[in-house]
Amino acid sequence: VRRATAEDAPFLAELRWSFRSPLGEVTEDRAAFTARCSAWMGTALGPGSRWRAWVAERGPQVVGGIWLQVIEKIPNPVVEPECHAYISNLYVMPEARGHGVGKALLDAALRDCRALHPHAVILWPTERSRSLYTRVGFAAPKDILTRPGWDDA
Ligand SMILES: CC(C)(COP(=O)(O)OP(=O)(O)OC[C@H]1O[C@@H](n2cnc3c(N)ncnc32)[C@H](O)[C@@H]1OP(=O)(O)O)[C@@H](O)C(=O)NCCC(=O)NCCS
Repeated sequence: VRRATAEDAPFLAELRWSFRSPLGEVTEDRAAFTARCSAWMGTALGPGSRWRAWVAERGPQVVGGIWLQVIEKIPNPVVEPECHAYISNLYVMPEARGHGVGKALLDAALRDCRALHPHAVILWPTERSRSLYTRVGFAAPKDILTRPGWDDA
């Protein structure tokens, strides 16, 4: 597992397509999506960004990745962490699953999270991935309210 760089963006965009396109009604063709996503990822992995990502490699082949965004909080005059961390887009190619690659990616992101001293680390699990996260300390919070987005957006 290593930190991703902007050079990984084209392949990470392909992984994003593999992850998300089977999950809903696709509104964009693959080439258009991967071009748009690759450009976004190149910027997100470049200087000055709040995003960082890691990739897992098997030999020369990238087989998975994970993303982390640092969410700023407003400066606070008392002892309280001044950021949250948001983990997203954990994905391992189907043929590489079940051997701890996902856990290794999550551990890499959590090592950075720990160094950031965040107030909380947040993510949206799927039903199937819940156990992976609960094993490393994630739990449903009692002190947060979320509101679904608007249908007319
Ligand atoms: C989640 C995922 C990255 C795990 O990768 P992995 O290398 O197989 O993970 P590990 O071997 O380290 O850990 C196995 C854990 O992954 C999770 N998992 C296994 N198959 C999964 C699947 N098809 N979908 C989602 N999570 C899965 C489970 O929590 C499993 O633990 P369990 O043995 O208690 O059930 C991989 O299954 C994946 O890419 N799934 C599709 C994308 C996804 O759902 N990502 C999570 C979004 S929040």
